[in-house]
Amino acid sequence: MSTTATVQLRTLIAGPTTARLFQQSCLKTSLRPSAAVTIGLRSAAALPFRNHGVPNSSRYFSTTSSNKLREFFPPPKTPHVVETESHFKHPVFTEKEMKDIVIAHRQTKDWSDWIALGTVRMLRWGMDLATGYKHPPTGKEQKNVRPFSMDERKWIIRFIFLETVAAVPGMVGGMLRHMRSLRRMKRDLGWIETLLEEAYNERMHLLTFLKLAEPGWFMRFMVLGAQGVFFNAFFISYLLSPRTCHRFVGYLEEEAVLTYTHAINDLESGKLPRWQDMKAPDIAVTYWKMPEGHQKILDLLYYIRADEAKHREVNHTLANLDQKYDPNPYASKYDNPQEPHPTKSASIMKPTGWERKDVI
Ligand SMILES: [Fe+2]
Ligand SMILES: [Fe+2]
Repeated sequence: MSTTATVQLRTLIAGPTTARLFQQSCLKTSLRPSAAVTIGLRSAAALPFRNHGVPNSSRYFSTTSSNKLREFFPPPKTPHVVETESHFKHPVFTEKEMKDIVIAHRQTKDWSDWIALGTVRMLRWGMDLATGYKHPPTGKEQKNVRPFSMDERKWIIRFIFLETVAAVPGMVGGMLRHMRSLRRMKRDLGWIETLLEEAYNERMHLLTFLKLAEPGWFMRFMVLGAQGVFFNAFFISYLLSPRTCHRFVGYLEEEAVLTYTHAINDLESGKLPRWQDMKAPDIAVTYWKMPEGHQKILDLLYYIRADEAKHREVNHTLANLDQKYDPNPYASKYDNPQEPHPTKSASIMKPTGWERKDVI
């Protein structure tokens, strides 16, 4: 039996039920487009690009009939309000800063780190199983063979699902610190805003991807279930050990950087032809202040990867601090501003976080 056949056979035997259901529902859609409303996602791979008459729309699969679809996030219809602006302005990243992002891993040092890393690995395994995703083994990245090949549809499914989960920890952490401040009648020392900003940033990732694809009922159901479980689990865990939770997010972001790096490599090596010259959605161009000539999907992935690398650094740093008494180093003014210190920008990246002795 050939190696490829063996791999396919193994995949069939060990193939995840959820993944099969997911893939089957997508496949069914591509065979019977008229039934699209009743199932998960319309396949980008099987359907040609569609522009539903939406200005600047580059979304290419949808479960809504084209005559009903106008805009996924329509501007408010009010006579007086023209635009609402975010209070969380995104810092400007340079091309060099974004290209310098590296895959990194922080070594575990104690039992708390082990719990955090073990949980991330378990979640990653479950997530890969559910979405039928596999990274190519090291050294075989260039071989575009199943089951390692990822097309645009598979990537977007994964991105959307990941981002719905990724935006939870910052909001839970910020909310619990807010509550603690009220309850104990004490200052928070600047953590809340950074955590809420992270949640906002992750939600912007999601909103951007939703301009490229529209999930159907199956995916919405999966997201609902995942949020119900993850929100409550993270809420209780953060009450018990916020330090472990920040370490957990640090390790989760290590995986996010890895995932986006693989997607960038796929796009740069020509494996995602539909995204080759596609423009990034307007919402992204505005949010990241993407300069003229750098507004493609590839650029977008570089921006998002840099965000994930910043979350990785922030959360590993926060996990190194005393959760009750230390100020947030990302919202602090320093004695000597000339010396390197944590910032919101991408100019200084400490992939495994700042140690407490270096910032406090
Ligand atoms: Fe994200
Ligand atoms: Fe992130």
